[in-house]
Amino acid sequence: MFNIAVLGYGTIGSGVVKIINDNSDVLKKSSGEDIQVKYALDLRDFPGDPYENIIVHDYDVILNDDSIKCVVEVMGGVEPANTFVRKAIAKGKSVCSSNKELVAKYGAEILELAKENNVSFLFEASVGGGIPVIRNINESLTADHFDSITGILNGTTNYILTTMRKKGRDFDEVLKAAQQKGYAERKPEADIEGYDACRKIAILTSLVCGKQVDFEDIATEGISHITKEDIAYSVKLDMPIKLFGLMKRDSDNIYCMVAPFMVGEEHSLRGVEGVYNAINLHGDMLGNVMFYGKGAGSLPTASAVVSDVIEIVKNNNENINIIWDKEKLTLGDASKFKARYFVRLAAEGVQDKIAELFGEVSFAEALSGETVFVTAKEYSEAELTDILKDYSVITKIRVAE
Ligand code: HSE
Repeated sequence: MFNIAVLGYGTIGSGVVKIINDNSDVLKKSSGEDIQVKYALDLRDFPGDPYENIIVHDYDVILNDDSIKCVVEVMGGVEPANTFVRKAIAKGKSVCSSNKELVAKYGAEILELAKENNVSFLFEASVGGGIPVIRNINESLTADHFDSITGILNGTTNYILTTMRKKGRDFDEVLKAAQQKGYAERKPEADIEGYDACRKIAILTSLVCGKQVDFEDIATEGISHITKEDIAYSVKLDMPIKLFGLMKRDSDNIYCMVAPFMVGEEHSLRGVEGVYNAINLHGDMLGNVMFYGKGAGSLPTASAVVSDVIEIVKNNNENINIIWDKEKLTLGDASKFKARYFVRLAAEGVQDKIAELFGEVSFAEALSGETVFVTAKEYSEAELTDILKDYSVITKIRVAE
């Protein structure tokens, strides 16, 4: 019997307990062991819940039980998760975590600690919910230099943007639905302002480059400023808006950013709708490879967590090496990152002047009082701001082909 404990009996934790119990036959077949959840740590009680008898409130019960070989941390937030995870590792227990805040901030340090203690620290569910992208980066995509990652990395914002576009519903109403479905973070700003996607692209870039990318260094723009009118323009132009987490490497720099993009007809992530996430990586030998699946929600995320537990059992609870050094990777200045732009100006009758300023542009049919266009050439944000310094810009959104 391989005993585990789950820290946090919320959306993901309850999903982990359900999968381990309902799919015990598959787990046994994959891992060769019977896996059992002996404890679930939570501040709350769950009277009437089928697993109420495994709930404990004191972490020391778990730490001091030598039969617990692996701790599943699905609490979210940096503390106390960070302290709990380090204590478990120091006691010789492996850890699986879905916690992108913890992994982005302390992933490299915790991996080092796990190595010192000959146990594992795995975090498949921290990026892309149920999508197995991290194990693939660590185990399969090992022969290439990767020069780009483009990801729809947040299920809540993709669900909001898709539902607003397809059903014409209001932002707040759709956000509530995402919360009810268990997609959204406790503080919705984490999703809406792009902080969640920022941590996820930091984790992916750290793994691909093998060094520490500090999420604080990543230029991050969310979707809270996207209005119904912007969405209506995106429909007219047939370029849906998606929140991208990006890494791009050129000969001098590695750029990372999170920002909304209007997505053209040929783009590989254009069809990724609702709660689905997708991650496209480009390798120098492999070319493009893409991962797609449900990026949030109890059972898809819990499925990725349980796959980590199985991996740990298969590796006899010994260290699984993941290359992510603590050495900091210095990122290029994202304001120099160039893209085509969709622009809404609060001005009428200025098409000639705009055409003069930009050379080639495509004008769109605009609301009264506005001039709306898409640039043909690519500009950095600084260049665009400078060119439009005499105009009042309502919205500017990058365009991805
Ligand atoms: N709030 C996150 C999302 C959950 O919507 O993608 C999964 O990390």
